[in-house]
Amino acid sequence: MTPGASTRAVAAAALLAWVTLTAAAATPRAKQMPVDFNREIRPILSDHCFPCHGPDEKQRKAGLRLDLKEAVFATKDGVTLVVPGRSEASALIQRVTHSDP
Ligand code: HEC
Repeated sequence: MTPGASTRAVAAAALLAWVTLTAAAATPRAKQMPVDFNREIRPILSDHCFPCHGPDEKQRKAGLRLDLKEAVFATKDGVTLVVPGRSEASALIQRVTHSDP
């Protein structure tokens, strides 16, 4: 496995867990702490994705920024990056779990 592939696998696992937990938090009976985007998710995206999808306009790829919660949940050109509780419908999860992203 290349180093790039393994960091992606770590990011994929963490993000997958997050989308699943977002669903759990949406059910009224869920007792666990809701996952906080800024506290728990943003740092993962910051480590793995901000070099190309961060606040720096000049470095930004695909016009995509992942440093804002609004952008992560937004739908653009019919593509939604993260659909809470539905990892299979989330473009971001498809990307990070794909073998040729
Ligand atoms: C080395 C630079 C780089 C890094 C790091 C990077 N990306 Fe990207 N990303 C790109 C480029 C270039 C594109 C546009 C080309 C393409 O669609 O493949 C893109 C496109 C995307 C798209 C599709 C955007 C669209 O509008 O269709 C998603 C989703 C995405 N990246 C998610 C991520 C996530 C999540 C991470 C971190 C785990 C990440 N990227 C890290 C360079 C990067």
